[in-house]
Amino acid sequence: MRAPTYSEALEFAIDRSYDINLDMLRSRNLHLDTHNDYLVGTYPPLKAMGDLNAEKLLLQVSSSIDLYFHIPFCDQYCTFCHFAKEINPSSGRVERYLAALDKEMSWSEAALAGRAVETAFFGGGTPSFLTNRQLETLFGMIRRRFDLSKSEVSFELHPSLAKQVDAADRISTLLRAGVNRFVLGVQSLDPSILRILNRGHHLDEVVQLVKLLNDMGVQNLSLDLMYGLPQQTLRSWYDSLIGLLDMGIEKFNVFPLMFKSTDPVARHLARGRYQFAGAKERIIMHFMAEHILTKLGYRHGPIFYWSKQSQPHSIQQSRKYDSWNDNNLVPFGVAGFGYMSQCQFYNEADLDRYLYRVEAGEKPVWKGVVLSHDDLMRRTVMFALRSSGVLLSRFEREFGVSIEKCFGRELELLNEAGLICISNGLLSLTAAGTINSGAVSLLFFSNNILERIAYNDSRIIDKRTDLLEKHDYSPAARYGSSAEMQVAFR
Ligand SMILES: C[S@@+](CC[C@H](N)C(=O)[O-])C[C@H]1O[C@@H](n2cnc3c(N)ncnc32)[C@H](O)[C@@H]1O
Ligand code: SF4
Repeated sequence: MRAPTYSEALEFAIDRSYDINLDMLRSRNLHLDTHNDYLVGTYPPLKAMGDLNAEKLLLQVSSSIDLYFHIPFCDQYCTFCHFAKEINPSSGRVERYLAALDKEMSWSEAALAGRAVETAFFGGGTPSFLTNRQLETLFGMIRRRFDLSKSEVSFELHPSLAKQVDAADRISTLLRAGVNRFVLGVQSLDPSILRILNRGHHLDEVVQLVKLLNDMGVQNLSLDLMYGLPQQTLRSWYDSLIGLLDMGIEKFNVFPLMFKSTDPVARHLARGRYQFAGAKERIIMHFMAEHILTKLGYRHGPIFYWSKQSQPHSIQQSRKYDSWNDNNLVPFGVAGFGYMSQCQFYNEADLDRYLYRVEAGEKPVWKGVVLSHDDLMRRTVMFALRSSGVLLSRFEREFGVSIEKCFGRELELLNEAGLICISNGLLSLTAAGTINSGAVSLLFFSNNILERIAYNDSRIIDKRTDLLEKHDYSPAARYGSSAEMQVAFR
């Protein structure tokens, strides 16, 4: 099958975009403005959390777990990125961090022993920032505690790895250590956009690294791409996607650019420094990708994820969003967030505080909360909707009540607006629901959580320097007073 031409993809996407009535969605608070649109990553979000006794995390850990390791180092500061990181740290600093990871892992070692590790994910920051020796050290300490031989093990790469003389050695080390899935951040193939984003790499490095990974027998490679970028036209978006498909890429994460006010890119949007796609154009970009990928035999997985029909979806992606109670995510490292024993929590997000607490022998939990039965149901619905959907019978079995009884008003509103559908006992998002999934999640927030967010927000003295403000990406956290929030979400 040949790829659709630019005009075919555009025509299809414009046509599909008419199905999404932005005015109607806005009038019902089911569409978030571009600068406020963000995926709800944890429920409750950081601003609704409080102090949590770390021992609570170990009380009811599920029999199978997912691991997350945060590597907070990068070569440069990309203008859109608000993940916790330090730019060009000394090797001493990196080694001190690895020693802290080792110590953090020993804290839960006994409690997690024997648990089946379904997936492990190395994210950042830039895990490929680590030297070959540091990678050996990291995996050595993990091997002493966890058996990854049956797990999906994913590792994030930055294209600048291609510039390292020992790139092949590092990849060999990773393959030997059990990494079986690589995720490469590409974002765009447009050189002028890469420059504006301060990505620190060129197109050549993407091509070289993909070739090297192919030559080394890597089968499972997923690429991150973004739309809605500064100066990105519909044509440039089309060209990036087609360029990567021509390279034979079989898996993609296609993200809409999401803004956090502290990022340079948010200032660029606010001050009109560059051209950014508006809401309608972003929808068209979404449907162009959908059209091209479906025509070429790719299928849509969890929210942003696409893979070729012949390839399985990523287990980590599915489990990340299918957050039923038996998926416990165990994070290690600064700013890692997790879910264990019905607690949603965050590790310290400031690197010095993280190091200080771990070195003092503490589990570095920053904030957290034990979920109530009600919030557990809400969390399950909003997250599962982004993945394989909510099986109504499973919901009733797990929670002892039907979803219609708990969330009748929300389901009616979403159904009338065309954002959800129920078929064969499965509740899922429609295309319009996928595009507006941030707003859909917000609808399931409890009043209690919204009030706690508003209260904690009101106590922030300086929004430019406050750590809660910096690390809470949730759209709910962007509204100051509870009155403002009620207007926005109810
Ligand atoms: C931890 S980051 C990047 C991994 C690696 N450091 C790199 O830059 O290539 C993971 C992915 O999140 C996506 N991402 C980061 N910031 C984003 C934002 N503001 N909006 C949408 N996606 C974003 C990017 O596609 C990025 O590749
Ligand atoms: S996008 Fe990747 S390389 Fe760029 S700052 Fe974020 S984590 Fe670092």
